Amino acid sequence: MTQPVARELYRMTTPYGSRRDAFAHALGDGVAVIPAARHASRNADTEYEYRQNSDFYYLTGFTEPEAVLVLAPRNEKEPSVLFLRERDPEAEIWTGRRVGVEAAPGQFGVTAAYPIAELPKRLPDLLVGSPALYYGLGVNDEMDRTVITAVKAARHTVRRGGTAPRSYVEPGNILHEMRLHKSDDEIALMRRAAAASRAGHEAAMRATRPGLWEYELEAIIEYEYRAAGAQDVAYPSIVAGGSNATILHYNTNRDRLRDGDLVLVDSGAEVDLYASDVTRTWPVSGRFTPEQRAIYDLVLRAQVAGIEEVRPGRPVDAYHRAAVRTLTEGLRDLGLLSGAIDEIIEKEEYSKFYPHRTGHYIGIDVHDVGRYTEAEKTFRKFEPGMVVTVEPGLYVRPDADVPDRWKGIGVRIEDDILCTAGEPENLTGDIPKDVDALEAIVGSGVLVRSVT
Ligand code: GLY
Ligand code: MN
Ligand code: MN
Repeated sequence: MTQPVARELYRMTTPYGSRRDAFAHALGDGVAVIPAARHASRNADTEYEYRQNSDFYYLTGFTEPEAVLVLAPRNEKEPSVLFLRERDPEAEIWTGRRVGVEAAPGQFGVTAAYPIAELPKRLPDLLVGSPALYYGLGVNDEMDRTVITAVKAARHTVRRGGTAPRSYVEPGNILHEMRLHKSDDEIALMRRAAAASRAGHEAAMRATRPGLWEYELEAIIEYEYRAAGAQDVAYPSIVAGGSNATILHYNTNRDRLRDGDLVLVDSGAEVDLYASDVTRTWPVSGRFTPEQRAIYDLVLRAQVAGIEEVRPGRPVDAYHRAAVRTLTEGLRDLGLLSGAIDEIIEKEEYSKFYPHRTGHYIGIDVHDVGRYTEAEKTFRKFEPGMVVTVEPGLYVRPDADVPDRWKGIGVRIEDDILCTAGEPENLTGDIPKDVDALEAIVGSGVLVRSVT
């Protein structure tokens, strides 16, 4: 298994540098201020694990907190400036190594680097001369104040011949369109995240047996992610046995897996801040009951129909509509819905078993950025390089008005699909999902403890 590449990021200036160039080009004579994420306090002296802001990371590859990237492409002297923490041997004993100001230009390809404490003093000069400021207001109050103060200071230069920004633009307008279209280096990272997810899901399948706790399965999955080089999960893992699977965002994971039930596992590894998002559902004992199998086969058919729609030129909602139609037809065939298909779809009667949409963009964020529409109610079209999840499901709640034998069955199947110029490419497609493959792998491994 290849090693994690996180440490190499500091040397990988090329992809981030070229993204920055493309973004700077789009800025024209504007100036962009892109801050790193803040720390989040957990309690007392403890913080939540730090996770870099995705826009900042996309443009820098830099994972430290307390940093700001300023891009002012028409500023001849300093078109790209990184503000960051200074080296501090005493602090680094406590909280880890820092890149520091001196090394930053070489490592990140910026023209200048300054201590973060100098941001308020230096920002006004970087704003002067730019008619437009690209800054995402309302995310970080402290940074908002710093930027507003700098704008005021820039205005004071007007009588001396300076110009202050006259328009204020959300940088995501440009940046999120860029992030939506994945480059080869990004897709390579998503493949690594997918490979780690495969290791985790397969280990979980092998370990599954009645009596195991949901949280044990969670721990097994996440151990394998780390062992495969992932630094984190892309979102909290859902391990839902039996009717817990009908609770869409169940992630307490505190129940026992029971013989005769299914277990739904929605969990994805994150590699160098790139996500994967995978759901598999399998029988705890290794054998589907006829009802479980009927629901499972239907969800799988809906997923196949959805994946077929991830093609250039197809609207980005077409795969949801394809999945809904397949599910609706199947539910009617099973006797769980009745009436004309078009009417059931029109009235959204299927939603009592399928209340969510069929997927979302995925990239640095698990629910990634990018517009879904090009005008009101008009969905944009797929283009090569876009990656979406395709994740139909069916959830028959224990109190549903259906014969008892269907109650409590919850199934979702989710893969990450790359739109290419040719066939859709399933990045997570080698994780078992055919009934035969699942029945063969489930319970086939040894466990370090016996389950009583
Ligand atoms: N795991 C989050 C989602 O499937 O959207
Ligand atoms: Mn998911
Ligand atoms: Mn998803």
